[in-house]
Amino acid sequence: MDPTSQANYHQIATDHVLLKWDIDFDKRLICGTSTHDLKILEDNVSEVIFDTLNLDISNVNVEGSAATYNVKEKHPVMGSALHISLPSGLRSGSSIKVTVEYKTTKDCVALQWLDKQQTQGKKFPFLFSQCQPIYARAMTPVMDTPSVKIKYTAEVTSVLPALMSAIRQSPPSDGPAHGGKEIGKDAVTYVYHQPVPIPSYLLAIASGNVVYRAFPPYEDKNWTSGIWAEPELIEAAYWEFSEDTTRFLATDEKLVVPYKFGVYDILVLPPSFPYGGMENSCLTFVTPTLLTGDRTLVDVIAHEITHSYFGNGVTHAHASHFWLNEGWTTYMERLLLQVIHSPAHRGFSYSIGYKGLVDDLAQYNNRPKYQRLLVDFEKGEDPDDAYSRVPYDKGANLILHIERTLGGLDVFLPYVRDYVETFMGKSITTQQWKAHLYGYYTKNGGEEKVKALDSIDWNAWFYGEGTSLPVTMEYDTSLAKAAYDLAARWDASRASDVSRLDFKESDLDGFDSNQKVAFLEKLQSYDHLPSSHVEYLASLYKVSSTHNAEIRLRFYQLSLADPSTPAAHKYAEEAANWIIGNGTGMVIGRMKFCRDVFRAIYGVDQKLAVDTFMKEKNSFHPIARRMIEKDLHLTK
Ligand code: BES
Ligand code: ZN
Repeated sequence: MDPTSQANYHQIATDHVLLKWDIDFDKRLICGTSTHDLKILEDNVSEVIFDTLNLDISNVNVEGSAATYNVKEKHPVMGSALHISLPSGLRSGSSIKVTVEYKTTKDCVALQWLDKQQTQGKKFPFLFSQCQPIYARAMTPVMDTPSVKIKYTAEVTSVLPALMSAIRQSPPSDGPAHGGKEIGKDAVTYVYHQPVPIPSYLLAIASGNVVYRAFPPYEDKNWTSGIWAEPELIEAAYWEFSEDTTRFLATDEKLVVPYKFGVYDILVLPPSFPYGGMENSCLTFVTPTLLTGDRTLVDVIAHEITHSYFGNGVTHAHASHFWLNEGWTTYMERLLLQVIHSPAHRGFSYSIGYKGLVDDLAQYNNRPKYQRLLVDFEKGEDPDDAYSRVPYDKGANLILHIERTLGGLDVFLPYVRDYVETFMGKSITTQQWKAHLYGYYTKNGGEEKVKALDSIDWNAWFYGEGTSLPVTMEYDTSLAKAAYDLAARWDASRASDVSRLDFKESDLDGFDSNQKVAFLEKLQSYDHLPSSHVEYLASLYKVSSTHNAEIRLRFYQLSLADPSTPAAHKYAEEAANWIIGNGTGMVIGRMKFCRDVFRAIYGVDQKLAVDTFMKEKNSFHPIARRMIEKDLHLTK
């Protein structure tokens, strides 16, 4: 059973939900109804239990008649179970319709309501959701477990264009904006339909002054792809992603199976969006920090597209098996890099990922269960506490290790296809995945391949703790080499006075942004450089003023690492200003950046970290706010 849900989905499960929503920007709430078409799975089931979190429920109907319901006491993580009585004598295999009328409240964790100052255009407010891992229940009563897959239809009324993780029925995306009505003033009803069953965490909504541009059609594909953004960003966003998006998707189709969601659009959100990317079905959400003007952060798009197979297609059964989503996706994302660019790019991505993995493993030294690939969650444990690079990089390395153990891509890719075809549309556990793997190679490889699989130390991969992988992995480091060499020269220069250093701005010429990241990360692995060196490095290479957030993060990690230095204090101030958008309310809410930077500042100057956060607390997404509060020890 899903340890994060209170729903009785083994007895009765939603097949389709109809969402009728009104978005109220003045009151900052969504009000409406959710109508579930449920399938009975067990004779005489007497109630249906939905997950909810901070919803204001006003009425419940079963088959059109008022029903008895009970909102149970709130669990701090799982929320309040909504119990609804059903008529007696229900038979397995039959269906029943349940409608819940409700409003979201000011404590809705899934939604962030931005005022106009927090948008690019400054003219209209903005709303967006983040439901993964367990916040769909804060938007609608739902069986909030990835073990239940639902189709949905939505009729959403808003004074601003509304987007959902589904296929637009009306008004047309490529017609006049806001159906030809006045943006910000006239209410328009947007109709969406998601015919492919999806897990609840892929439910998503956004509403704001956004416009659409289609990417050029790719060969004779029967899907469409395009980009949504505020008008001020649409040009830059189109440029950043138009080359790669359709190429990535077409390559995934070649490696795996055809795309089945029909539409692959990207929405660029305001900077408080708490993730780099989120693979909402038909509509990936991304942070605007990807818009660096050099297309160097498009691997995030490769990642989110690949979730169409691993996650949105084959879904993890619940939080304990989360690595099946992220590990597989990361493995495949890096394979895309190899196919589209070169084997060196694949190896380079593993090298950068490995550093993140080791750092995150070390963070969990006091909670070793989160160092495991397979986390045995207790009922009601918060999956966000376990969120780290572990499922991504331990997972991707396990798959890579299996690929190599079996003899390489030629023998491995046919299996990948079989895996996806076998479980497409289903939700599975690690045990089911492993049984299929053995089954496939028993049939298609025989004893030799099974023996190869048996040589893998499954126990160590699944349940191993500590800060290293069960196997020492070798990666192609040819792209990292120049970066590592430059770092070694800086390391060797530590005893010299800065006035005598032989470094030039042009040292970084020819480095792409990943190589700059690798250079700064390598430097972090040595003893701290003298403060004067760090300041000189910053002024020479402009790494503390770059618009590339990946590079800037690494520089702050480097410069804040030794709290005893003047450089640490100087850059702690700068880092604080950067994260809160210099007080404009345009905070950099991607948790990878803001959580790490707040933690680093905290290590240098606790008061600065806490004061900075408190000043702009309400500009962060509720999820980020909660996690930063924990990181800064403001709550437990
Ligand atoms: N699905 C995740 C984001 C997520 C995971 C949100 C768990 C909430 C809970 C998404 O696909 C992701 O992995 N995003 C990464 C991007 C990356 C690894 C390229 C991110 O946001 O950093
Ligand atoms: Zn992912």
